Amino acid sequence: MKRLLELLTGTYGPSGSEEDIREVIEKEVREYADEVYTDALGSLIAVKKGKGRKVMLAAHMDQIGLIVTGIDDNGFLRFSNVGGISPFNVIHRKVRFQNGVTGVVSYETELEDIRNLKLGKMYIDIGAKSKDEAKALVNIGDVAVYDAPMAVCGDRVTGCAMDDRAGCAVLVETLKRVRNTDHELYFVFTVQEEVGLRGARTSAYGIMPDIGISVDVTLTGDTPKSRPMAINLGEGPAIKVKDASVIAHPKVKELMIQRAREAGIPYQLEVLEAGGTDSGAIHLTGAGVPSGVISIPCRYVHSAQEMVDLKDLTQAVELLVTILEKEIEI
Ligand code: CO
Ligand code: ZN
Repeated sequence: MKRLLELLTGTYGPSGSEEDIREVIEKEVREYADEVYTDALGSLIAVKKGKGRKVMLAAHMDQIGLIVTGIDDNGFLRFSNVGGISPFNVIHRKVRFQNGVTGVVSYETELEDIRNLKLGKMYIDIGAKSKDEAKALVNIGDVAVYDAPMAVCGDRVTGCAMDDRAGCAVLVETLKRVRNTDHELYFVFTVQEEVGLRGARTSAYGIMPDIGISVDVTLTGDTPKSRPMAINLGEGPAIKVKDASVIAHPKVKELMIQRAREAGIPYQLEVLEAGGTDSGAIHLTGAGVPSGVISIPCRYVHSAQEMVDLKDLTQAVELLVTILEKEIEI
């Protein structure tokens, strides 16, 4: 799991440019699935055939990024956000483009009050000495991501794009481990979640599943003076009750709780006040798809150093495997 997570979080793949990460995940899943294909918008789908319920499992493979909007005469790049990039999270961070060009993010120091900092007052310095030099390396519309290789702190790891490569790792491991199941399983690695759950919407339409389960990170309330949230790192995967995009279907939520109890897997119940995930799109597909979410507790979400606990990931895999190997009466 550790090796897989390091590989996935280290691979480039902002929303809309998921080619590299898709290729890496495809290599991981190919020999474990009956069929693997990429849909029209680019989501990767690994199918395990069966005669039972059609289950769609989704984790988004895209990550947030910084998109180049302009290059000035001195070779500094202006940028906007792809997904939830906060000015304070990117100050003096190292970022990397798809072609390997790296830079550091900084801001106009004339600024009177740092609290007013906006992305429009910031730039990426790629070390270019002129506009022409910069243009030879980077184009308008190119997207940079955090360049932050995974580091291990005991059971916990930090690095960029745990949102949602942690979920992708859980799905890959679940596909590898699930054995005795009659259900037809669709492991979907979605595109463009960070810009509005877009890939999940069209993949769900293409699959028309009987039930949907997405796996994504969620916030925690266990750091000094953090905003109250009844989720702690390392206390087990979270079963979502509600976020801003979906209210978990009561039967899906109950099934998750029941299976966790039977198997003695610790779990937490999650109410996330803001933010959403792929199930927000999946459950509104067609005439409706009963959907739920298994969340991975994560500190510092959308920063360059997101922290997850590997035990939570392992237990999320155990929970998914037991759900998929048993009866699903929904
Ligand atoms: Co996110
Ligand atoms: Zn996410």
